[in-house]
Amino acid sequence: MVMPDAWQGWQRVVLRMLAGLSLAALLVGCERKGPVAAGDGLPAVIKIGVYMPMTGDTATFGTSSMGGIRLATEERNAAGGIRGSRIELILEDDRGQPEEAKTVVTRLVTRDKVIAVLGEVGSARSIVAAAVCQQKGVPMLTPSSTNEKVTRKGDYIFRVCFIDPFQGAAAAKFAANVLRLKRAAIITDVKNDYSVGLTKAFRESFARLGGVVVIEKNYQAGDASFNAQLTSIREAGVDFAYAPGYYGDVGQIIKQARELGLRIPFIGGDGWDSPDLWRGGKEALNGCFITNHYSVDNPDPRVQAFIAAYRQRNGDTPDALAALAYDGARVLYDAIERANSADGARIRDALAATRDFPGVTGAITLDANRNAVKPAVILELQDGAYRYHSTITPS
Ligand code: PHE
Repeated sequence: MVMPDAWQGWQRVVLRMLAGLSLAALLVGCERKGPVAAGDGLPAVIKIGVYMPMTGDTATFGTSSMGGIRLATEERNAAGGIRGSRIELILEDDRGQPEEAKTVVTRLVTRDKVIAVLGEVGSARSIVAAAVCQQKGVPMLTPSSTNEKVTRKGDYIFRVCFIDPFQGAAAAKFAANVLRLKRAAIITDVKNDYSVGLTKAFRESFARLGGVVVIEKNYQAGDASFNAQLTSIREAGVDFAYAPGYYGDVGQIIKQARELGLRIPFIGGDGWDSPDLWRGGKEALNGCFITNHYSVDNPDPRVQAFIAAYRQRNGDTPDALAALAYDGARVLYDAIERANSADGARIRDALAATRDFPGVTGAITLDANRNAVKPAVILELQDGAYRYHSTITPS
């Protein structure tokens, strides 16, 4: 499904002319003297492909991400675009399906000829689409996919978030060292790369810190009943359960746990972050914790300015997806500006050189594996809100 920008018809034509004029001004001005190398310079309209889950069971991931990407893009275009060229977003909905992600990203690259791609949120989708972008030599930046495999697809694939070996270890550290819990259950979405990766990282770190994983149970996204797993977990007598899944299932799991009289805290990851997490009831989630990328409670003026601008544009408070997507789009536009080219290899090299970019989710420096190294925040769930608890920094 293609969703064009809000700009239509004559508005688009006028903008294109303005963008063309300012580019022409640059060409005759001091910016570029002498012969222009082939492939150098930017087109008047810079086409960026975006693929997101706008529908399906992770739709709030897509909605929030687009709130951030559109805000970053409108701000940039209002300030003259990239070296006078206007950014145009071409959005495809992959419905949260890996196979559909592959199809729509292939279309963005081959039919729409986008010069770079932003997306996805869910790691399983990003892994599949990354293979396409790598093969076509089109840089892809995922704001929020944390599974290690994503950027392993090759040197055209980047992310502005931390990775799950760190996120899973951060949860283990928090449970063992801060909450001083010893006996863990784990409940994993086995068909989801993200969930499986976090379980592995958590299991290893928690054991190293002296904890014991007493019981591990599995489910598949969309399952209706978790009674069998939860009954076994109740019988096992654990201090807490680690549940690295997405918000829809996790909300149900915890609701059903409470119905079975299982009162232990659940600890999760960024995948819980959604306004729809609370659908099964807010109270069931009190006393639970998640690792995440950013907190709305952060008093940093840059963060608060972003929150205010986002609220004004979108009418709601930005979650971690919105913040990461805002940062991701800005990092990409910054790289395109430095590359001063629509050429994939040049944009790739500029992205790889990203250092200390001032993001609302923290300073972004991309390492040799094209991942950002950043702290995680621990958020406590309280009556329908995610409250800042503490920060865990990478060692
Ligand atoms: N990290 C998750 C994944 O890789 C996606 C996610 C990021 C979800 C941030 C919520 C918030 O699948």
